[in-house]
Amino acid sequence: MLADADGRLEHVPAFWRPGGVPLPPPVCAALNRWVHASLVAEDPDAMAAVAVDAVAASRGDLHRACLHAVTEANRRPLRLDRDGVLRGTVTEFLDDVFHAMMTGSRRLPDKDTFLCLAARAGAALADGAPPGFSELDADVRGEVYLRAVTAFVGAPAAALTWLVCARQLADLVAARRRAGAVEEASPEHVALETLRLWPPAWQHRRPVLHDHRIGPLEALAGDEVVVPAYALQRHPRHWTDPDVFDPGRWAGSSSRPQAFVPFSIGPGACVGASFEVRWLAAVAKHLAATPPLALTRRSGNPCVTAVFSAPEHELGARA
Ligand code: HEM
Repeated sequence: MLADADGRLEHVPAFWRPGGVPLPPPVCAALNRWVHASLVAEDPDAMAAVAVDAVAASRGDLHRACLHAVTEANRRPLRLDRDGVLRGTVTEFLDDVFHAMMTGSRRLPDKDTFLCLAARAGAALADGAPPGFSELDADVRGEVYLRAVTAFVGAPAAALTWLVCARQLADLVAARRRAGAVEEASPEHVALETLRLWPPAWQHRRPVLHDHRIGPLEALAGDEVVVPAYALQRHPRHWTDPDVFDPGRWAGSSSRPQAFVPFSIGPGACVGASFEVRWLAAVAKHLAATPPLALTRRSGNPCVTAVFSAPEHELGARA
């Protein structure tokens, strides 16, 4: 269905729609080109080392720590080295807007806060905006930039919360670990297994453009179809012992199963996917070489919003 060779679905990712309005295709294309070019220039291993060091040095809220750690690792592609105002704006965006969106906090900011930050980011990017951004109005440029921050930082930070927890908390949700599962497995398999059990993008939504059938279902123009990545990736028809965290299941398989869709597939799928798997594998490797972090659980359930992330925890002094 997501491959959609006949163009029956709309594929503009939801987070590229400021205020619910799709960005014009040329702006989307410019944004994707910029994201792609930025990633090609980066070393996932070096970025992972920065992120892991930053989390290990953090205290307080785990989600906040992971958001800032991933941002620190991405400071060059996000142009934070060049401009203090941009850096301050991104910090405020993460603390006041994105953290609440990610954890589902009751203190959700109003839209004006977001628009105000977007206007500030747009102005800060007046000189030296990424290619394709300069011709945008400052407000739109800022909004698009903050959406890019969301892509660079949001899902990777959610994945980082899970990796930190999976390494230390054997009781986490339903996923019991096989003994030695994290310590002995290849980092790439740990990364894939983390994305299988805890996909930050836990569902993929697509508005229907034309009436058609999907197997036994009738999809009508104006409907929205939802591909439940979380459920598919734990479905017993596709996975043996689906709730068990077992990186070893990935050993010896050169292709990835069809029921593994953490980055979506087809038009609109994640342009950062292959970089992200290498980055997450490097994070697993660096975490394995770091002494355990002191984690105190603050909530029983995972945070389920547009992004799926670990239960809230407090990072303390090292155990
Ligand atoms: C664990 C990490 C990540 C996950 C789970 C993830 C997942 C996704 C998913 C599911 C989509 C499609 C959204 C939709 O269908 O509405 C998407 C799109 C996208 N992602 Fe990621 N992503 C991750 C990391 C990244 C990174 C690191 C980058 C780049 C720095 C990135 C850049 C993008 C872009 C640019 C798109 C839009 C593609 C388009 O417009 O065609 N993602 N991502």
